[in-house]
Amino acid sequence: MIGLETEPRPILRAYSMASAVYDDWLEFFSIKVPDGPLTSKLQHIVVGDEILVGAKPTGTLLASNLQPGSRLFLLATGTGFAPFASILRDPEIYERFDTVVAVEGCRQAAELAYATSVIEDVRSHEFLGELAAGKLLYYATVTREPYYHQGRIPDLIDSGKLCDDLSIAPFNLATDRVMLCGNPQMLADLRKLFAGRGYAEGSSGKPGDFVIEKAFAER
Ligand SMILES: Cc1cc2nc3c(=O)[nH]c(=O)nc-3n(C[C@H](O)[C@H](O)[C@H](O)COP(=O)(O)OP(=O)(O)OC[C@H]3O[C@@H](n4cnc5c(N)ncnc54)[C@H](O)[C@@H]3O)c2cc1C
Ligand SMILES: NC(=O)c1ccc[n+]([C@@H]2O[C@H](COP(=O)([O-])OP(=O)(O)OC[C@H]3O[C@@H](n4cnc5c(N)ncnc54)[C@H](OP(=O)(O)O)[C@@H]3O)[C@@H](O)[C@H]2O)c1
Repeated sequence: MIGLETEPRPILRAYSMASAVYDDWLEFFSIKVPDGPLTSKLQHIVVGDEILVGAKPTGTLLASNLQPGSRLFLLATGTGFAPFASILRDPEIYERFDTVVAVEGCRQAAELAYATSVIEDVRSHEFLGELAAGKLLYYATVTREPYYHQGRIPDLIDSGKLCDDLSIAPFNLATDRVMLCGNPQMLADLRKLFAGRGYAEGSSGKPGDFVIEKAFAER
């Protein structure tokens, strides 16, 4: 949780940590909801302002909640990319998986900027770049304006287009593990899609083939 001290009580919201496990700072990637109780204020903070940060992190998007596999798919929409920014900067991910496919879906191309910059940072990083070379693939798709790749993630998976476009083998339960974060309806659609293909949902203490985290609560 992060938030701001306000009267009569603080406003706190769930956030994903986007910084790497080894960073000595915390990075967050936030939406700006124009009339949102927190983000209408948070977007105006300046250097030196204080924010509240909860001391007890929780969540299911952990590699330890996944069975062994050789390909890892990180499927996000919008700010759902935030936890993957952290995972993509974790060297262990490239030691554990032969292929890591990061997918970000947004309404407009401009909203891909954060995900694209994280991928560029990893690829150009002194140590991570070498580990990720030949392993890290990035697929960005846009739904509400023309773009190189277009369409919603579940449709791109269901039709086989995502793997075709990346020139990789189709999804395969024997090799593939999946992490999902984003729009709640997208998560419901993908949970159905993967469960229908025999993938088991993982949780703490019960590793599975895919894990899920919401990027926001629906109003
Ligand atoms: C587990 C979890 C992790 C989260 N991680 C992040 C994160 O890393 N970055 C982030 O920006 N938000 C994240 N959120 C959402 C965050 O908690 C707040 O909802 C968001 O900061 C807006 O707060 P608010 O008070 O301004 O508006 P709220 O009253 O909380 O939200 C108003 C409405 O805006 C929409 N909305 C809110 N957040 C988002 C979003 N992120 N993307 C799209 N639509 C949204 C929803 O329709 C929501 O009902 C997360 C939520 C959960 C449950
Ligand atoms: N001010 C800001 O900074 C800012 C920025 C972005 C958004 N917003 C506002 O915040 C709200 C949320 O917008 P958002 O774009 O971040 O999140 P979103 O509505 O969840 O959209 C993100 C992506 O998820 C896709 N999606 C939605 N439902 C899906 C489903 N069932 N299956 C697969 N994909 C699905 C969307 O495709 P579709 O286009 O096909 O729905 C879009 O490409 C909106 O009200 C928006 O106007 C504000």
